[in-house]
Amino acid sequence: MSTTSSHPSVISMINQDHSKFKSLWKEYNGPNMNGEMKQKLAWALIREIAMHSSAEEEVMYPEVRKRLGDEAADHLLGMEGHQKLKDLLYEVNNMTIEKNGEAAFTAKLDEAMKVLMHHIDDEEGKFWPRFEALPGVDADLLSHLGSKFESAKAHAVTRPHPWAPNKPPLNVVANMATAPLDGLADMWRFAGNPPQV
Ligand SMILES: [Fe+2]
Repeated sequence: MSTTSSHPSVISMINQDHSKFKSLWKEYNGPNMNGEMKQKLAWALIREIAMHSSAEEEVMYPEVRKRLGDEAADHLLGMEGHQKLKDLLYEVNNMTIEKNGEAAFTAKLDEAMKVLMHHIDDEEGKFWPRFEALPGVDADLLSHLGSKFESAKAHAVTRPHPWAPNKPPLNVVANMATAPLDGLADMWRFAGNPPQV
């Protein structure tokens, strides 16, 4: 009997993050948002997506690789998934509304969000149902992975790093080395208070 069985399933945690991304993006495009508010929201969104992706790569995708195979894991990590998303978010992260103008900034972020929405549909519509239906995948395993996912987010990078390794064990080492630097870089962005979104 697992001691972590009371922890929420990794899949419900991942999907909860997805809902958060969707609502932040809706808020970004909503009424009464000025440039400064959009910039802050975009930074929060980039931070949340970076942490989520890093934890998925550490905890969930190795399980996908082990149980659903290389093709599934490589698809989720590749140019229809995380790699493309990181490339685009890296570009967004190097832009600001003040420097590049709101239209150009939003267009680039929109490009990234389209990739993210496609990736979310892939995970929720295709890969998670397949994963959950596998023999050996039960509530205990999903709960155990949920607890690992939560810990992984706590030491995750908070910015996109398209050139960093995305598979264990090197991604874990790279995250450990990079996350504190991201934290320092975030200090000025969030005035020492990373957003709780
Ligand atoms: Fe993902």
